[in-house]
Amino acid sequence: MESESKVFAELVAKRRSLRAFLPDAVDPKLLQAVFSSALHSPSNCNTQPWVVHVASGETIAGLKQVMPQEFMAGKFTMDFPYDGTYEGVYKERQYGAAQALYDSVGITRKEKERRQEEFMRNFTFFDAPHVAFLFLPEPFGLREAADLGMFAQTLMLSFTAHGLGSCPQTALGFQADLVREHLGVEPSNKLVFGISFGYPDPDAPVNSCATDRADLADVVTFHN
Ligand SMILES: Cc1cc2nc3c(=O)[nH]c(=O)nc-3n(C[C@H](O)[C@H](O)[C@H](O)COP(=O)(O)O)c2cc1C
Repeated sequence: MESESKVFAELVAKRRSLRAFLPDAVDPKLLQAVFSSALHSPSNCNTQPWVVHVASGETIAGLKQVMPQEFMAGKFTMDFPYDGTYEGVYKERQYGAAQALYDSVGITRKEKERRQEEFMRNFTFFDAPHVAFLFLPEPFGLREAADLGMFAQTLMLSFTAHGLGSCPQTALGFQADLVREHLGVEPSNKLVFGISFGYPDPDAPVNSCATDRADLADVVTFHN
């Protein structure tokens, strides 16, 4: 039997952001199992400050109709500000990730229109049949947002373990009012980001995108 540590290391390494999906819906029973595992995520004082809404079927189809239009019309309602600019090493890593993405689909630096088209796929959920929106209830802030991040990572690992793929998307938080209205979510629930998910398309070049990581010594200091 494989050791737990090996299984864990392989699972963590296997999870990548995937951006092309097959149209097949995930069986509702499997969805229940996948999301149930994420409930084990830790949180400050076990507050479990996550409110999650999953859109599938006609609901996601409706969102696909309106989200790209709203973005193109410049209608943004972000609950948490994001300007997408980074400095220093963070900027280098951001460039590296963008380069890996565009290389995977053969888009060069100069092809601005194709880059924009690729970016716009965020708002049609990369053709995924499902999307989970992750909300933080008021009045929570940074500390509880970290809890929500832990929920998200457990969820994404759960997707991977069940043969599914996913992509976390800050872009899906750009139109918080629209998403809330569409799903009937109370205004007190603030949208942090979304995660598109489903069965990955194994033949899509974009799903070959692989990003780098910093060296351990660059981010972790061991003190004796
Ligand atoms: C909170 C969060 C938001 C993200 N937002 C987006 C997004 O809007 N669009 C996108 O294509 N990728 C998005 N990503 C995916 C990152 O680009 C990706 O995680 C990073 O490049 C590392 O690659 P990997 O997930 O394949 O390991 C996001 C990731 C996280 C964790």
